Amino acid sequence: MNNIPGFDGLLKGIERIVNTHWDDERDEILERICAALKNGVPHYDWVGFYLVDPDAKRELVLGPYVGAPTEHTRIPFGKGICGQAAATEATFIVQDVTLEANYLSCSPDVRSEIVVPILKEDVIVGELDIDSHALAPFTHQDQAFLDAVCAQVAPLL
Ligand code: SME
Repeated sequence: MNNIPGFDGLLKGIERIVNTHWDDERDEILERICAALKNGVPHYDWVGFYLVDPDAKRELVLGPYVGAPTEHTRIPFGKGICGQAAATEATFIVQDVTLEANYLSCSPDVRSEIVVPILKEDVIVGELDIDSHALAPFTHQDQAFLDAVCAQVAPLL
């Protein structure tokens, strides 16, 4: 990520949040991370975590987020971009949400989305979901950066 100084600095900031606020509630730490991401990257307009519900295994439940409220507080595996990323345990980038049939809309302003699964000891425990109002803004740098963010977050979940 050396070619994107913004991502490098932001990742260090997120490491600091995880390491210096370790005695805060988990959800406070996750919300700080959402805010750092949304404030730090111009094309991140909604940033949130979905967590695998331990009581309903193949279902995601909305965790801390920063951005407009969403009606999608529970998402079954397989449904929407979030549910597909959970079912496949693979990062799902949709550069134009109008071209994705299996999509759950939160706001008409959203034009693209990236969802990165968070795995702990090879088991999916949650995911990081980012919506953008820009068309096709996500690059391999975003993906590498967000993989590194999720690696920081995994031990908290
Ligand atoms: N668009 C997502 C739903 C979650 S909201 O973006 C916050 C999806 O298709 O799964």
